[in-house]
Amino acid sequence: MWPFVCAILALIGAYCSICWLYENLRTPVSLVLHGIAQLLLPQKPFSEKYGEWAVITGASDGIGKGYAEYLAGRRMNIVLVARNENKLNRVAEEIQRKYSVRTKVVVADFANGEAVYEHLARDLLPRDVGILVNNVGLSYDRGMCMEELPKKLVWDLLTVNVASVTMLCHLLVPAMKQRGRGLIINISSLSAAAPAPYLSVYAAAKVYVRNFSMALREELRPHRVEVQTVLPGFVRTNMTAFVASEYDGKAASKQLVRVDDYVRYAGFTIGKTDRTCGYWWHGLQYAGLKLVPEFVRVFVLQTIYSHLRGTKKNV
Ligand SMILES: NC(=O)c1ccc[n+]([C@@H]2O[C@H](COP(=O)([O-])OP(=O)(O)OC[C@H]3O[C@@H](n4cnc5c(N)ncnc54)[C@H](OP(=O)(O)O)[C@@H]3O)[C@@H](O)[C@H]2O)c1
Repeated sequence: MWPFVCAILALIGAYCSICWLYENLRTPVSLVLHGIAQLLLPQKPFSEKYGEWAVITGASDGIGKGYAEYLAGRRMNIVLVARNENKLNRVAEEIQRKYSVRTKVVVADFANGEAVYEHLARDLLPRDVGILVNNVGLSYDRGMCMEELPKKLVWDLLTVNVASVTMLCHLLVPAMKQRGRGLIINISSLSAAAPAPYLSVYAAAKVYVRNFSMALREELRPHRVEVQTVLPGFVRTNMTAFVASEYDGKAASKQLVRVDDYVRYAGFTIGKTDRTCGYWWHGLQYAGLKLVPEFVRVFVLQTIYSHLRGTKKNV
């Protein structure tokens, strides 16, 4: 009896190990192989491979601004979308000065819902949009119970984090399919790895982005349009100012990666892998979370965000 039980347990163990290794090694292996190919074979510039323009939502600050600079450095013309026109103009001027590419500023508030997409269609559809970075996002300014969230914030979490990704893909995918080229980068979050108490709406919205993005990747694959899903961990931006202020001066504050470092790694993965955390340390955190049962992951996220319940954004 015992040898039979041991054999079954060994089989289950081997099966689980293979699944975990496949899930967590496919991205690094793909990066290494593509990295070698990039060294040995001539590569098409992004503008030729995907199209002339990159559209980045939430491009005036944080990770979006980082992507805008990274892609401008690869000779893409940049459409910057956000709410604050002055901030957008400043970033656009900086990009033009540094990289000598064309820029276009589009002022749009995704919290306004449906109306914003007519205005975006007028600006975006006439262009050869090769890359769409669905980056715009909104989070809490501390860990909060569901009923503590103001009603307006709940709507905004849905319209900004969920609807923008979906509707911009809906707007731009037909032209990409017709041209037979393009790349969509959807920014989800490491918090999509498990339900996150005290960050419940944000984390659930990011699960939507992850699943939508991975399903769209399969739909668009035959049309040579690529979709990349990015799941960042903590990056030092306005969004995580409450985390930074809580852990200021403590070892945990080192968990917050600088935007420049984050985008250097995440940018390297473009065109090389369809799913990434964008930064090696975040990849290890994701692999660690996936190693344990869901109740442990929930416990870890609950511990982090319940600890952040008392803090307030200080920017
Ligand atoms: N930072 C992190 O640790 C982290 C971790 C995981 C995932 N992420 C994801 O990464 C993405 C970028 O986050 P971030 O940390 O870079 O955020 P951020 O620093 O707060 O920047 C957000 C950007 O979006 C714009 N924006 C905000 N609300 C908008 C709205 N309603 N309509 C149009 N534009 C709006 C902001 O400019 P205006 O205020 O001028 O509009 C800004 O350019 C988000 O999707 C976020 O969920 C971030």
